[in-house]
Amino acid sequence: MNINSNTILITGGTSGIGLELASKLISLGNTVIVTGRDQKKLDEVKNRFSSINIFKCDVSKQEEIENFYEEVIKQFPNLNFLINNAGIVQELDFKNNKIDLNKINSEIAINLTGSIQMASLFSKHLQRKKTSAILNVSSALAFVPVAMTPVYSATKAAIHSFSQSLRIQLKETNVKVFEVAPPVIKTPLMDRLGYDHVKGSKPMEALELVEVIIKNLKDDNFEILPGQSKILKLISRIAPNFIVNNLNK
Ligand SMILES: NC(=O)c1ccc[n+]([C@@H]2O[C@H](COP(=O)([O-])OP(=O)(O)OC[C@H]3O[C@@H](n4cnc5c(N)ncnc54)[C@H](OP(=O)(O)O)[C@@H]3O)[C@@H](O)[C@H]2O)c1
Repeated sequence: MNINSNTILITGGTSGIGLELASKLISLGNTVIVTGRDQKKLDEVKNRFSSINIFKCDVSKQEEIENFYEEVIKQFPNLNFLINNAGIVQELDFKNNKIDLNKINSEIAINLTGSIQMASLFSKHLQRKKTSAILNVSSALAFVPVAMTPVYSATKAAIHSFSQSLRIQLKETNVKVFEVAPPVIKTPLMDRLGYDHVKGSKPMEALELVEVIIKNLKDDNFEILPGQSKILKLISRIAPNFIVNNLNK
């Protein structure tokens, strides 16, 4: 895929992977739009990159994304690349605590339903473009769950599955469907969770991840497995119990 001169929407583009992707894609000559829930963070991003376009939009709110869709398509009719990146992670203890259902629903809505609804809303528009793409950000935990973050792991496995189905459904169209399953990346999300969360992991810099993503987009490698993700996926197929038990010792 050509990675210059696109109009690219990145959900959750105000920190971590989304922000690093935005920075790189701007430097490559693309028009970039980012979303997030926090206006202050959006304003900081706008101060840093004058050419960037910011929209406050919570991907977990159906009405918000419907209104956002109308507005962004009106302002950026050339939009041809959707990156579903927004995500959160929560440690949830099902043994000792009664878990607030709102917390569970919110994690599913942000990580899973939000991406599915965005793909659904933008699909027709993207199909009208000469070349277009959707990139879903899943995780290495799509292949091997980490028990401390059970809902997160489940949403990422579902995003992997959804990406496969979407790719097949859109095969005969102009929309290329990519998925990246990052290993542990140094970002505010992992700063909050702690880097010993995934046993034996060697955190990768967000910039390094972005370089891998760009190379694979250019080469039309639809399933992008950076660093340790490749080996995790492989072992999860060959010895699934071994890898789940080892990661959760
Ligand atoms: N870091 C890792 O090790 C790692 C590994 C594998 C996969 N990932 C995935 O990579 C993606 C980005 O994560 P990150 O590590 O870069 O995290 P991050 O630094 O915390 O960034 C998350 C971004 O998503 C936004 N966001 C959160 N909830 C949102 C919502 N409801 N609507 C719109 N935007 C929302 C945040 O902005 P606001 O809070 O202002 O809304 C922020 O811009 C996530 O999908 C994550 O699951 C990360």
